[in-house]
Amino acid sequence: MEDKTILCIGAGYVGGPTMAMIAAKCPDYTVLIVDINEERINAWNSDTLPIYEPGLDDVVKKARGRNLFFSTDIVGGIKKAGIIFVSVNTPTKDFGAGAGKAADLQYWEKTARSIVEHSEGNKIVIEKSTLPVRTAEAMHRILNANTKGLHFEVLSNPEFLAEGTAVKDLENPDRVLIGAMTTERGQEALKKIVAIYENWVSRDKIKTTNVWSSELTKLVSNAMLAQRISSVNSLSALCEKTDADIQEVSEAMGLDSRIGSKFLKAGVGFGGSCFKKDILNLVYLCEHYNLPEVARYWEQVVFMNEFQERRFVGKIIQKMFNTVSDKRIAIFGFAFKADTGDTRESPAIYISKWLLEEKAKIAIYDPKATKNAKLELSGIEGNIEYCDCPYEAAKGAHAIAVLTDWNEFKTYDYLKIFNEMEKPAFLFDGRNVLDHKKLFSIGFNVFPLGKPELSHLDDGN
Ligand SMILES: NC(=O)c1ccc[n+]([C@@H]2O[C@H](COP(=O)([O-])OP(=O)(O)OC[C@H]3O[C@@H](n4cnc5c(N)ncnc54)[C@H](O)[C@@H]3O)[C@@H](O)[C@H]2O)c1
Repeated sequence: MEDKTILCIGAGYVGGPTMAMIAAKCPDYTVLIVDINEERINAWNSDTLPIYEPGLDDVVKKARGRNLFFSTDIVGGIKKAGIIFVSVNTPTKDFGAGAGKAADLQYWEKTARSIVEHSEGNKIVIEKSTLPVRTAEAMHRILNANTKGLHFEVLSNPEFLAEGTAVKDLENPDRVLIGAMTTERGQEALKKIVAIYENWVSRDKIKTTNVWSSELTKLVSNAMLAQRISSVNSLSALCEKTDADIQEVSEAMGLDSRIGSKFLKAGVGFGGSCFKKDILNLVYLCEHYNLPEVARYWEQVVFMNEFQERRFVGKIIQKMFNTVSDKRIAIFGFAFKADTGDTRESPAIYISKWLLEEKAKIAIYDPKATKNAKLELSGIEGNIEYCDCPYEAAKGAHAIAVLTDWNEFKTYDYLKIFNEMEKPAFLFDGRNVLDHKKLFSIGFNVFPLGKPELSHLDDGN
């Protein structure tokens, strides 16, 4: 057991890329990544990694087999490592007290118990997962209740990477946040974790805080980001009523340096595994601490997201003469955002389900997320086709619905697509990525999001 051996428990979207980057940047550390999911570990050891992230293959290849090792040997890893990152999933609890809001910490607690059981020396245990504020307190208790006389120091080092740009974010982070107890042992451990990141991140970007601030910062950063999306999405609804253009409004608003231009794009709604669960967790925490007004405030961010998704489907139905029954609708994009194959909580899931309930036939094309789309919609009744190319999806379709902001959607031959569609041909751009004027001139009836529609139909629809 030594401080130069790092273990990460949980080889998911966070554990995998984060540890691969540490291994690539810190050749004098050995980085072990373990997971209970054997299939996932096998994929990490193969040429086809379990997740798609631009640039990740190169980072993994650089370190794998040198100082980066993926395995299912959790016990062996715990014995060897002095520093343990825990990056297991922390989904929303779906049972018992707090169901639907609180974080389900069972995976975290099981991991903590297995660390205690198999440890033979003192260790630093780092919360990499996003956790409710004050989880470290419970962890300290569980870990230090051991009868072996061992000491475990719990730190918080939340991850801020965004899927789709994970490698870039890890290589050049806005900040690295590390929270530690204010005790002597806490501060000693803090120095060791700072030293890891200092291998490639400048010290002024490594922010150290107390452990509670660090835990809470991650949760509220996600809430603030999601709130921006919900705010701009709420305004997109108003734009559609008033012929204002949300893209113009966002751009002009963003020029105010106090507002800033990022994260102001309207769309069909936010997705991903984190935003919704982290806000609901924040709501639960506020309720727990008897702050109902604060809880209601944040809850609205999630309501607004659902409103936006439903609004989009409502518009498709209304514009297509109030029925989509038996009509083929091509879904362009199923991932929750571009450059990832991740479909967790993707608006496409809900939109597809609602369209199927309306008896539409859906034909899905996504450059990277087809496998996950099939999993998300497995068991759902209805007419679903998964297509290998966009032209196949659009052939014979009455409408195209763009649900992900993939860049490649801009490059297609839309004249060819139009010619092979049923008429009138509808295009609902839920991400405002396409050239609407050009599509309109080809003959499409174009319905962007939060912008005036470009329709050849004069039926008042
Ligand atoms: N995905 C993101 O973009 C992102 C960004 C920042 C933070 N986070 C947070 O990071 C955490 C992990 O998220 P993720 O997206 O990587 O999840 P994930 O589901 O992709 O990965 C978690 C992994 O942990 C494994 N696991 C669960 N219990 C285990 C155990 N007892 N022992 C060993 N392995 C176990 C699972 O098999 C899974 O492979 C979450 O708390 C999430 O909120 C995620």
